[in-house]
Amino acid sequence: MASSSSSSLIFLVVALLVVSIGTSNAQLTTTFYSTSCPNLISTVKSVVQSAVNKEARMGASLLRLFFHDCFVNGCDASVLLDDTSSFTGEKTALPNNNSLRGFEVIDQIKTAVEKACPGVVSCADVLAIAARDSVVILGGPTWNVKLGRRDAKTASLSGANSNIPAPTSSLSALIQSFKNQQLSTTDMVALSGAHTIGQARCTTFRTRIYNESTIDATFAKTRQANCPSASNTGDNNLAPLDLQTPNSFDNNYYKNLVNNKGLLHSDQQLFSGGSTNALVQTYSSNPSQFSSDFATAMINMGDIKPLTGTNGEVRKNCRKTN
Ligand code: HEM
Ligand SMILES: *[C@@H]1O[C@H](CO)[C@@H](O)[C@H](O)[C@H]1NC(C)=O
Ligand SMILES: *[C@@H]1O[C@H](CO)[C@@H](O)[C@H](O)[C@H]1NC(C)=O
Repeated sequence: MASSSSSSLIFLVVALLVVSIGTSNAQLTTTFYSTSCPNLISTVKSVVQSAVNKEARMGASLLRLFFHDCFVNGCDASVLLDDTSSFTGEKTALPNNNSLRGFEVIDQIKTAVEKACPGVVSCADVLAIAARDSVVILGGPTWNVKLGRRDAKTASLSGANSNIPAPTSSLSALIQSFKNQQLSTTDMVALSGAHTIGQARCTTFRTRIYNESTIDATFAKTRQANCPSASNTGDNNLAPLDLQTPNSFDNNYYKNLVNNKGLLHSDQQLFSGGSTNALVQTYSSNPSQFSSDFATAMINMGDIKPLTGTNGEVRKNCRKTN
């Protein structure tokens, strides 16, 4: 009697273990590396801090790198992989080619982290922490980053081309693109506030500044001065996504939208009479609500399809599989 109930207890424990090991979406936790790499957070922060001190825009570039990683098969550092003979990576996808930056900084962080805790911390988690640090260093909100992601063994060029929204997107396309990643319309509007920092190339906003009517005329003229109308001329000329404070993480992005001074067509879509108008208005006048919703949305984005447990691997070099 006693032995039969203890053997069924053992059976139950073993069955639960098998189920939990087999589950791929085990929970990420903020304490994942607390004992295996206690200095992780400060190690990442100091490399991000020196990179942003050297060039403020780098904070924007690192934040965008995390977004472009998470939208392609989850936050699995697939965006960091260089092309190999067996697959073409994501770096030359249309939204990324001649545009994504910060790979060298991620390498520097990874080198520092490997020195402190060899073979322990994934590149996907490094990216998640670096994105948070970038926002904080540029004056934005903070949040506790959930950890425990593992790194993909492959990348998806086609996924990068189809999942990352284009600057020509309509409001409904933007909503759908985030919904495809289980992110809400509120997450989408809040995450778009990342365009309070960083730069865009002329080729991404040319049509908007020459051919749209829902744009402040003086703002359009100012941007036209450094972005010629003829395609293939000045395509890579840069303009700030937030004309007021491109190196400060604040709510000026939404104030710009309310004044028809969004740089990208997709930006202005959020305040063009549709279902997201009211939320843009709220964020433009209530910076603390924006901060709080942005932090929540970053955590939600970081939860997209992580590889956990024994799935994937912990890469030694973020540019290639082990
Ligand atoms: C809502 C849909 C989005 C669209 C259509 C979009 C599109 C773009 C485009 C076209 C650029 C300029 C790229 C270039 O010219 O090289 C850009 C830059 C940027 N995006 Fe987005 N984006 C979106 C959402 C996001 C999200 C969710 C984040 C992060 C949470 C983000 C962060 C950034 C940052 C920080 C930059 C500046 C990067 C730098 O200066 O290096 N974007 N985005
Ligand atoms: C990426 O950019 C390079 C350099 O401008 C260019 O030669 C190449 O054709 C581009 N690749 C794709 C796939 O667009
Ligand atoms: C603006 O629209 C006109 C008419 O459709 C077109 O010919 C022109 O190429 C467009 N210009 C830009 C910069 O998009």
